[in-house]
Amino acid sequence: MDVLEAIKGRRSIRRFKNSPLPSSLLSALEDSLLEAPSAGNLQSRRFYFVFRGETGRQIARAAYHQDFIQDAPLAVVCCANMKLASHYGERGRTLYCLQDVAASIENLMLVAYSFGLGTVWVGAFDETEVSKILSLPDYIRPVAIVPVGYPDENPPSPGRVGREHAISHVR
Ligand SMILES: Cc1cc2nc3c(=O)[nH]c(=O)nc-3n(C[C@H](O)[C@H](O)[C@H](O)COP(=O)(O)O)c2cc1C
Repeated sequence: MDVLEAIKGRRSIRRFKNSPLPSSLLSALEDSLLEAPSAGNLQSRRFYFVFRGETGRQIARAAYHQDFIQDAPLAVVCCANMKLASHYGERGRTLYCLQDVAASIENLMLVAYSFGLGTVWVGAFDETEVSKILSLPDYIRPVAIVPVGYPDENPPSPGRVGREHAISHVR
């Protein structure tokens, strides 16, 4: 699939079928996370693959009952590694590691889409609660939860602003 086609066709999916993920797709999803760019190639990020079950239910509760998280066969909890990023001081800890994770998340969503899978970027959750559920050390900051599964809906695009609102050409 053409990359721009994937970028334009991907939609946030919040209804998932009950089908499991083929294990052959898991390693491609992992590659998509690992191959993203990162500041100084430090790869200041860490990912927790939570498969459907009790931990997934706890994570959904910590995400203010966004229950579609527990319906997906997989939820990837995407975290920043502030210890690795501290190589770049304050900027590393507060900015670079978040960008490292964000680059991986977008890769994940596009590769998942190219395999016919649905995802949604979930940013609304109680960080302290998610850290507790996964026993994260204090230097690992959960940034987003991405449920992954076969879509059971086909939502329309919510639209985007016109070019003139977001892009300036400077010559
Ligand atoms: C940083 C961030 C946080 C988000 N948090 C949530 C969330 O907590 N719950 C949710 O259902 N969608 C969440 N979304 C998904 C957005 O609502 C969605 O991407 C946006 O409405 C555009 O729709 P599209 O992804 O279908 O293009 C989040 C997206 C981003 C980038």
